[in-house]
Amino acid sequence: SGPATFTPTGVATTAPQDAVAQQGERLTTAQGLPLRDTDHSLKAGRRGPVLLQDHHLREKITHFDHERIPERVVHARGAAAHGRFEANGEAEPYTRAAFLKAGAVTETFVRFSTVLGSRGSADTVRDTRGFATKFYTSEGVYDLVGNNIPVFFIQDAIKFPDIIHAGKPHPDREIPQAQSAHDTFWDFVSLHTEAQHHTIWNMSDRGIPRSYRMMQGFGIHTFRLVNEEGATTLVKFHWRPRLGTHAVTWEEAQLIAGKDPDFHRRDLADAIEAGAHPQWDFGIQVLPDTEDQTFHGIDLLDPTKIVPEELAPVRIVGTMTLDRNPSNYFAETEQVAFHPGHLVPGIDVTSDPLLQGRLFSYLDTQISRLGGPNFAQLPINRPHAEINDMLRDGMHQTAVHSGVAPYHPNSLDGGCPFPAMVAGGDAFVDVPQPIGGEATGDIVTREQPASFDDHFSQARLFYRSLMPVEQLHIRQAYAFELGKVYEQAIKERQLQCLANIDGELCAFVADQLGLPVPAASEEVPEVEPSPALRMVTAERWPA
Ligand code: HEM
Repeated sequence: SGPATFTPTGVATTAPQDAVAQQGERLTTAQGLPLRDTDHSLKAGRRGPVLLQDHHLREKITHFDHERIPERVVHARGAAAHGRFEANGEAEPYTRAAFLKAGAVTETFVRFSTVLGSRGSADTVRDTRGFATKFYTSEGVYDLVGNNIPVFFIQDAIKFPDIIHAGKPHPDREIPQAQSAHDTFWDFVSLHTEAQHHTIWNMSDRGIPRSYRMMQGFGIHTFRLVNEEGATTLVKFHWRPRLGTHAVTWEEAQLIAGKDPDFHRRDLADAIEAGAHPQWDFGIQVLPDTEDQTFHGIDLLDPTKIVPEELAPVRIVGTMTLDRNPSNYFAETEQVAFHPGHLVPGIDVTSDPLLQGRLFSYLDTQISRLGGPNFAQLPINRPHAEINDMLRDGMHQTAVHSGVAPYHPNSLDGGCPFPAMVAGGDAFVDVPQPIGGEATGDIVTREQPASFDDHFSQARLFYRSLMPVEQLHIRQAYAFELGKVYEQAIKERQLQCLANIDGELCAFVADQLGLPVPAASEEVPEVEPSPALRMVTAERWPA
């Protein structure tokens, strides 16, 4: 551990320091020369001009000029904490992942985020929240890159640039900075109606959480678990906050955004520093791995659908505790790199087309965000397991590799470069899966399961499952947000979507907007309410 550092509240903590930073007592240049003065540049005479010859001046300013890296293209604003995960063994029948075996304790790093705002935007805006967890397991890094809402806007990753372009601030004025109250967002979600389910969650209290400590997390996609015998199970991942799931009201959210835009990151850091370490139970919905990959008619490859907990209860398989704040925001929270493809043996992906596209996107963006291909060497991204890869050189390489033969097979470095390297590993050994059919990519020939075409029934399920006060908040949120839209045609089109979800919801919003109430344009099946979709707080409200 390194020298004591001081948190803003003045409490000394001992922060781990990187070996190359902050050694010795004296201020030096980057080349290690002790400095006498860092306050005055070298001048010709007392009144200047300044001489270019001043090495320290040039080094100090040049480095400062390059201090910023690009913010994340999405989820730019975040706050993070270190913790540990303890498994209770309940997942053992389904997966051979070592970190899910009974009693295994694994270090974790969690970054919470908003999706659309820039790095400097406010915390309490109406938005989805990211909930990304890095498990530093004994078998290598496992990342669960989830959100606080269990479904997503789109079914196919090829639509990701579209939804994000629509949700980010308008290209002309960059207004609004971080909320969904604008024409491009409503234009897209009312045209691309598979987004309607995620959108109604955003309009609910889930879109304005009280605290990162009081949010659920969801892996969203269906994943495939593989056990010791090679048997497979499909699962959905859930994080359940021990503090319950809570929101602020919209009025509070707006006031807080003005008074304290750092509300959520302050809340997380203060709680951890005060010893109130937030905890989440980690659970799985266990679903049979059938050939058609559906469950009670729900297509498990469709990320716009949930599986109601009444049909498949969440089984708790472990608990995570966050107990340490980052000591350096840039080194940890900003440089951490999550990837849905960082998997460990026993956890595998499915053919969900949204997940498949994500497998490409994260490494790709991080190569530009973190300046080259070597960011896995950064302390926050390093596995807590041995690394012996054949990746070499590149921008920001800090490892000094030995040997001459980073290729396989070889006879020069004793095999490869170490003989044991290809024996016994079981990373990314896929479970054999039947794959068939013709390549169908274009809109004319593409066939997709019928469930992918159902855009409204689960939005209706969500709305009809909630407590009256939660429903009221949704009605008010639609009225407020659509009230900010300029184009009347967009408002009318969104009202049409609401008519398909719920007649009363549509009538309320139409009345607030002063527009006629449209008739439903689709036959949407009736739903069996799922009380598990209510927030915990709702149980305290009278019906
Ligand atoms: C970042 C979640 C879909 C591209 C993130 C982060 C989260 C997240 C939590 C922030 C990670 C962090 O804190 O550093 C999700 C979820 C999705 C989803 C739950 C759907 C279920 C997609 C899709 C794409 C995508 C479909 C692209 C095709 C990205 C990119 C970043 C990101 C480029 C920035 C990563 C970085 O700069 O390190 N996502 N995402 N995401 N996501 Fe997604």
